[in-house]
Amino acid sequence: MKQTIWVFGYGSLIWRPDFNYLQKQRCVARGWARKFWQGSHDHRGTAEVPGRVVTLIRQTHENCVGMAYEIDASVATAIFTALDHREKNGYQRVNLVLALDNGRSVDAFTYIAMQDNIAFLGDASDSEIAIQMFHAAGESGNNADYLFGLADALRKLQANDEHVFGIEKQLKNLMHKQMQ
Ligand code: SIN
Repeated sequence: MKQTIWVFGYGSLIWRPDFNYLQKQRCVARGWARKFWQGSHDHRGTAEVPGRVVTLIRQTHENCVGMAYEIDASVATAIFTALDHREKNGYQRVNLVLALDNGRSVDAFTYIAMQDNIAFLGDASDSEIAIQMFHAAGESGNNADYLFGLADALRKLQANDEHVFGIEKQLKNLMHKQMQ
């Protein structure tokens, strides 16, 4: 039987995995919350004006909906080398358990920015996060586009993430005001 490995995406990896996979499945990481608590000094901001990107925070009563990708083990090294580079600004590759939508549970690798990394920003109100995102851009584009990409991807997955949608609302208000 083919050896395979699962990879969990809960941020940009939902809508832009950039690697080949055998199948993908909507899934839930139980006991984890997706939070815009990680600073971005590269993709969506700079060291001077950091953007905000998502990480996972252990919260027993929360669930994080995302996408699970099954990859062929023979290409895993190449995929993880590319992902380690992409997620280099504070993320660590770790293991967690996923509940797939087809009823199976699988072990998966994912990238989490721990609270002790140099770019970690932590909690803030939705409006503070939106203001920070409004001003931030990095080598992968505007911070706002990351947020909107994630919000759209979550709507497609029918994931009700109040944190993400709350910040999206604040950011749209700011953009609307700027145009007036
Ligand atoms: C992920 O997408 O799973 C990790 C965080 C990110 O790159 O947005």
